[in-house]
Amino acid sequence: MTKSFMRQPLATIFTITVIAAPILGTCKPVTAVGPNAIDQQRIQQRIQQGKELFEREWPSRNPRLGSDGLGPLHNAKSCVACHHQGGVGGSGDARFNAKSIGIEKMRITGGHINDDVVAKSIRGFHPGFVDSAGRVVNTYAVSHHGGTPMFARFRDSIMRNVAAEFSEAGGPVNAEEVRHANSTPITYAAQNGKYKIFIHARMFQRNTTPLFGSGLIDQVTWKQLKELARAQEKHPEISGRPATLPDGRYGRFGWRGNVATLQDFCDQACAAEVGLETSRKPQPIDPTLPGYRNPTSDISDNQIRSMTAFMSALPAPSRRLPQDLETRHAALRGEQLFAFVGCAVCHVPNVAPAQGLYSDLLLHDMGYESIDLNPADPYITRTTPVSRINRRVTTNSVETKFYDDAMTTVYYGGTSVMSGAKSRNSSFSRGSTAMMDLSPITRRQTNIRYTPYNYEFRYPQQPNTLMRFVLTGSQSKRSTNKTQTNRTESKKIAQNQSLASGKDTLTVDITEQNNEIIETRQIDYVRIHIEPTNHMQEWRTPPLWGVRDSAPYMHDGRAATLLEAISMHDGEGAGTRDRFLNLSHSDRSAIIKFMETLTAPANFSRTK
Ligand code: HEC
Ligand code: HEC
Repeated sequence: MTKSFMRQPLATIFTITVIAAPILGTCKPVTAVGPNAIDQQRIQQRIQQGKELFEREWPSRNPRLGSDGLGPLHNAKSCVACHHQGGVGGSGDARFNAKSIGIEKMRITGGHINDDVVAKSIRGFHPGFVDSAGRVVNTYAVSHHGGTPMFARFRDSIMRNVAAEFSEAGGPVNAEEVRHANSTPITYAAQNGKYKIFIHARMFQRNTTPLFGSGLIDQVTWKQLKELARAQEKHPEISGRPATLPDGRYGRFGWRGNVATLQDFCDQACAAEVGLETSRKPQPIDPTLPGYRNPTSDISDNQIRSMTAFMSALPAPSRRLPQDLETRHAALRGEQLFAFVGCAVCHVPNVAPAQGLYSDLLLHDMGYESIDLNPADPYITRTTPVSRINRRVTTNSVETKFYDDAMTTVYYGGTSVMSGAKSRNSSFSRGSTAMMDLSPITRRQTNIRYTPYNYEFRYPQQPNTLMRFVLTGSQSKRSTNKTQTNRTESKKIAQNQSLASGKDTLTVDITEQNNEIIETRQIDYVRIHIEPTNHMQEWRTPPLWGVRDSAPYMHDGRAATLLEAISMHDGEGAGTRDRFLNLSHSDRSAIIKFMETLTAPANFSRTK
């Protein structure tokens, strides 16, 4: 699709089609035009519905009326509250940053220590570090708003540690305060009975990305990502890689490149940002109300599809050359210098159909300063089958929803498990439910020193992720010997891509016997070979289209200006940054002038 087409707001294009239909009707049979016009109209209605949902301020509801609406935990009341710079769907400044707290170190001494002691100790700091599966994790996304008064007290006690200035919306007031918040240590020391607990944590943030042109990014194929990675293999400094998701797909969206499709991101954003539970993603659970569950979804699949259609239809950012001849000349020279010093190796100008994207959509290690304890997904280079385990699970509760409970951790990246006799062996997890099943055959170094009287956790600086084991997704159905009395039900859960075995469905046989469910699973494991890299410092190259209108910059909005953003490149970007800094002043500003020609879509209604 060409840029000039995408630059037009879709509404305009549609109007032309409708007017054209009757005119064409005079020389062509009406039927040839009719269905197309009707399709167009349907598409347009869907986009319009999606726009309304994107702009809607969601109210909270009494759960007795069906669902609980907004929240209870939420970062804002609408999508547009954060996504608005340069028009509906744009980026947001630092005031709308999402925040998470990451534990770098934790020590417990004073008595015999087991998992319960670890969980109890961390709950005093914030109960959110114990996830819904009962595991202690080292990162927690603290929602800006909502929750019980007790939740608010926990949030306030953490926030009191961070001396930066925060806005009403929840994020720091500007880029400077982002940096301030980033570097302030959050410490917690407590005595709980005979136990002494010490925690050292920090705040990590995510800046709101613009969504213009995201429909085109959604069309970039996995093959293209692999080709882009291959093109960098011979480069001395730069080695981008795609993220492999738990289901085998590649990620293209989000700062960590950890979400495969626009629709998946929409699902997650509804749940994580606005507290709207979807049929696939649960809303974040208030850890001070652990028993509470939203009775049903807050937003339907059809509404998610409409919002996705709206985002897909957002025009791509445009290129606006300045009228003034001198600036125009400098900008064009800057574009050449941009390629000359090597910016374009990562910020690839065109990735079809996203012309003018300026990104490879790959992950790069950007150096220690860019660390965030929610790690990127690994890159699985090879898999080998291992063994087969039979297992029987007996439970009394009937599972009615099948969604992955990894949502709260996977949205901003993974997390590290800090407790659990099993999980102790695996310092790196995607927060996947399969995690629990991995441990019996996982052999890996640990980041937890766990002796009977001394517990010490340090975030894994270099996670040892050369290999991991996951379920292949080829769990096969087996009949049970027990007599079945009430009901037998087979649930087939499509696994998007089986990693090794080629079988691609997961079948769980559920037999109900006097209210007792017996689940018999046969589980295949594969050994996963992961490219070793520093998962906490890897970021997806952000597309630079529209960059003039999306300040502040970098994943957390720590850079107020384009120049600051460039000078903050490190790791794989260090060589290019130095070549940039060594340019003459006029060459450097030519590159900046070039980037200032990359603007939010023209003719696009601004709201702010
Ligand atoms: C509190 C502010 C906030 C709200 C509200 C919000 N978002 Fe976002 N959005 C973000 C942030 C922050 C990111 C980047 C997250 C990341 O990558 O870690 C983001 C990223 C995205 C992306 C990924 C774009 C890309 O560049 O890869 C999509 C799609 C998205 N949001 C859609 C939505 C939708 C739909 C809603 C409403 C249901 C919504 N957002 C509500 C802050 C917000
Ligand atoms: C190794 C790959 C790589 C190279 C080379 C590179 N960048 Fe980047 N760039 C990135 C990544 C990754 C980020 C995001 C880092 C983060 O969020 O912490 C980024 C962020 C940016 C941003 C901020 C964009 C935003 O939306 O926040 C700008 C501007 C930018 N780069 C410009 C440049 C320029 C100009 C050059 C050449 C001097 C350059 N980059 C070279 C990978 C690269």
